[in-house]
Parts: sequence; C-alpha cells; structure tokens
Amino acid sequence: MRKPIIAGNWKMYKTLAESVSFARELAPRLASFSGVERVVCPTFIALAGVADALRGTEVHVGAQNIHWEAQGAFTSQISPTMLQGLAEYVIIGHSECRAYLNETDETVNKKVKASLAYGLKPIIAVGESLAQNEAGETETFVGGQVRAALAGVDAANMANIVMAYEPIWAIGTGKNATSEVANSIIGGTIRATLAELYGNQIAQSVRIQYGGSVKPSNMTEYMSQPDIDGALVGGASLKVDDFAALVEGAAQAKGV
Ligand code: 13P
Repeated sequence: MRKPIIAGNWKMYKTLAESVSFARELAPRLASFSGVERVVCPTFIALAGVADALRGTEVHVGAQNIHWEAQGAFTSQISPTMLQGLAEYVIIGHSECRAYLNETDETVNKKVKASLAYGLKPIIAVGESLAQNEAGETETFVGGQVRAALAGVDAANMANIVMAYEPIWAIGTGKNATSEVANSIIGGTIRATLAELYGNQIAQSVRIQYGGSVKPSNMTEYMSQPDIDGALVGGASLKVDDFAALVEGAAQAKGV
C-alpha cells in the first residue's frame, strides 16, 4: 500500500524563528498518526534550523528547489550537495518556479536527476493553466510534463519519487479541482503515463499528491479518492493546527 504523504510548501513565508517554532510545536503532535508521512518545506535559510528541530522526530524536511549542479558560479543558487543532511525531499517544477523563475521541462528533468544522484527525493509538480484546462488540453499537457520530467530516469529510482498534480488555476485561489477530476487526472493521466514508462507495478507504487487550495475541510474528500495519495499544501500548511488537521484527515480517509 502507498503510504499517504502530506507536504507543507511554505513558499516565501515564515522567518527562521517562526519556522523553527512551528517545527517544535508540530513534532510532538500526531504521534498516533504514524501511518501518514508528513513533510515541511521551509525556505532555504530556515532549513538547517528546522532540520535540527525535527531530527529524530516523525516530521520530514523538504526544500523548495535546487540547482542541478553540485557546485559552481551560480550566484544565489543552492546545490543538491548543500541539502544533504538537511533535507530529505525537494520540490521540483512548482508552477511558481515555472512561471517566475524560468523553470522549464528541461531544467526540471536536470533537477530531478541531480536530486536522485545526491540522495534527495524529488516531489515533482505538474499541472495545467486555466487556459489549457478550458481548451481541453489538460491530459496531453500534464502527460507531457510527466514524460519530460522523467526522461532518462531509471525504474529503480521511482521508489524515491513523489509526483504532485497541482492545477495552476487552483493554487491559492480557493478554487479547487473537484476530487473526482483530480483523481481522474492523477489516475488516468499521471499514473497511466507512469505505467507506459515503467510498467503497471511501478506505476501503482508511486505516490501522487493533489495540490491546490487543499484545507482541513476538504482534505478527507480528496483523500477518499483511490488514486490520491496525499497533498502538497500551501496556505493551509502554515498553521500548526491546520497542518495537524490535514494529517488527521488523511489518516481517517485512508484508514491508517
Ligand atoms: P495552496 O494550498 O495555497 O493553494 O498552494 C498550493 C501549492 O502551491 C502547494 O505547492
């Protein structure tokens, strides 16, 4: 069975002190919900502090991006080697990076390979714009993003990859894909593409999250869908009580 995974993408929120204090507060909670994996993804400057606060706890740490080179003259960038020991996961291909930071399918693929090479687990985000959605291009576009992100990635690495379907029009807007639609893209497009690339057994083992205006009140609805294995959450991951409620909702819906 795929272990549900809830990841909080804190984006450009929280100072170092706020991040560490959140981590300290969250860590002792939810002890009885160990069937759900939880991950917090703070900003780079808070990673070391949060990693220290969470060492030995059940809360895992993720970064929000990386460069694909191990080191070099890349002003402002963070390499995968620098994240070793601080982060277990790294979000790659978030639509905000694609929109504002020149992230392309090609750089996503380089970053996926680099993160795997240095022992980080990528959370690969894909998702269509409102215009693409309205033009009926979602399946083709999202399937293409999945193929591009995974070009040249071996089947052996798939156990270390999490996929996240985040329709751009649902991020931070309060509009969300219905749970049925999200499930059908996750199962019928993303998992189906993985099956074409790696076979059905691997496709069935990869965890795929939904993201976009997920909150405690709609968490169980998403998680009741068979192909949705978790959530990548922005706004609702910023408060400890909400984060805890998301994990509880996931545990309840999946019966773990
Ligand atoms: P919201 O949960 O704020 O819509 O953000 C989703 C997201 O972008 C997570 O990566």
